[in-house]
Amino acid sequence: ATPTTISLLGRTYPTDGWTNITPSITAHLSQNLHLQPSHPISITRSLIESRFPSPTYTHHNHLSPIVTTAQNFDSLGFPSDHPGRARSDTYYINAGHVLRTHTSAHQLDLFKANHAPGFLVSADVYRRDAIDRSHYPVFHQMEGARGWDLAKTSVAEINDETEYLASLTASLQVEDLHPPFHEQTNPLQPQHSSEAAAAVAAHLKRSLESVVLALFTSAPNPDADADADSPSSSSSSSSSSTPAPPLKVRWVEAYFPFTSPSWELEVFWRGSWLELLGCGIVQHPILTAANLPSSHISWAFGVGLERIAMVLFGIPDIRLFWSTDDRFTAQFIQGEVTRFIEFSKFPGTLRDIAFWLPGGVEDGEDTGGANSGAGGPAVHENDIMEIIRNVGGDLVEDVLLKDQFTHPKTKRASRCYRVHYRSLERTLTSEEVNAKHAELEKALKEALGVEIR
Ligand code: PHE
Repeated sequence: ATPTTISLLGRTYPTDGWTNITPSITAHLSQNLHLQPSHPISITRSLIESRFPSPTYTHHNHLSPIVTTAQNFDSLGFPSDHPGRARSDTYYINAGHVLRTHTSAHQLDLFKANHAPGFLVSADVYRRDAIDRSHYPVFHQMEGARGWDLAKTSVAEINDETEYLASLTASLQVEDLHPPFHEQTNPLQPQHSSEAAAAVAAHLKRSLESVVLALFTSAPNPDADADADSPSSSSSSSSSSTPAPPLKVRWVEAYFPFTSPSWELEVFWRGSWLELLGCGIVQHPILTAANLPSSHISWAFGVGLERIAMVLFGIPDIRLFWSTDDRFTAQFIQGEVTRFIEFSKFPGTLRDIAFWLPGGVEDGEDTGGANSGAGGPAVHENDIMEIIRNVGGDLVEDVLLKDQFTHPKTKRASRCYRVHYRSLERTLTSEEVNAKHAELEKALKEALGVEIR
C-alpha cells in the first residue's frame, strides 16, 4: 500500500489520489546539475546568465522544485482543463503540490518581490514523457523577465536600449515575417498601447538574439575537430579554412496562456531549424496580481538548457548529463564550450514486451488512443513509460511502440513495446538484461494489471 505521507526536501506532505511521484524521480530532487561546476548544463546556464547581468536582473538559482498547483498553473492563467495539468503529464506530490513543470511557476512570486527591473531563474523541471535520447523526466530551464513602469520610463528609453542590443547582433540573420501583434492569432493586450508593446517586443527579441549569437558562436566547429587527425592541421578550432556562414534565426508565432503576443525562437543549425525557447509579453493580469501598477509592462521567456547543451557540446544522449562516470564529467571546463568526445559506445540489446491491457474494448471504440478502453482502468502511455523508467532506470535508451491491435473476438487491446537497453558506461550482460526484463514484466503486471503475452 502507498504510504500516507511523503518526505521531500525536509518537508512532509500527505499523499492522496493524485500522488504519482516515484523514488526514481525524487532521487533527482537535489542534484542541481545547473549548479555543478564544469557541468555542461551549468556552463550553458552561466553563458546565458552573463547576457542578463545584475543589478538589472536578479538571479535565482535555488528555488525549490516543489510548487503548488496555483504557482505552476492557476497564477499563469492555465484553464482548469488544460492538458498540462493531467496526472499523465505532471508529477503530483498530492492534489495541491507538483514538481514544477516549468520555471514560469515562479513568475508571479518574483514579479511580486519586484527586486529589480528583471529576473532570471535557473532550475530543474519535471515532466512525464516518452523515453528516447532527447527526453528525460528531469531537465533544466531558465526563465527571464524584464519590466518597465511606463509612468516612469518612456518608450523612447526602451527603444534606446534595444538599439544598443541590436548593435551587438548585427552579424545575425533574422527572419521575422509577422508584425509584432495582430488580432487573429497573436493579439495585443487591451491594456497596452501598440507603441509600448512594439517597443517591449523588440527589446525582448533583440535580447534573445544576442543570447543565441553568443551561445552559438561559442560552439566549437565539429568539422575542424574531424581535421585534427591529419598531421598538418592546426589544433585551433578557429583555424578552419572556410569562414563560418552567418548564423540564422527565425521568429515563429506561438501561444502560451501567460503571454500575448507570444513567439518561439528557432535557430538554423546543421541543416535544420531547432526550436530554442518560448517567450512573449506577460499577461497584464499577472502583473496586477503581483501588485504592480497598471502602467507596468513586462516580457518573459523560458528556455530549455539540455537541448542547447546537447547541440553546443555535441552530446548525443540526454542521459549522459546525469552520468557520474569521469570519462564524462572530467571532459568539461567551467566557462568553456568544448566538443564532447564520445567514449566508446557500448552495445545495446533490444527486448520486446507484449501484453494485453486490462479489460476489453467496447464495440466501435477507437483503439488508437492512449487508453485501454472500457472494462479496465485507463492506461496512459506515460504510465507504461514510468514503470519502464522505474525498473530500467538509465539503462533504457529508448522505448518504441512496435505494434498494437484489438482482438476481434475478445475486444482486448494488445500492445508490443520494443525496449532498447544500453548502458552509457559498460557492456550489459545478457543475464543482467534478462533479469531487468523479467522484473519489468512483473512490474507491469502488478501496477497496471496487464497480461503478458
Ligand atoms: N514556460 C514555457 C514552457 O515551458 C516557456 C515560456 C516562458 C513561454 C515564458 C513564454 C514565457 O514551454
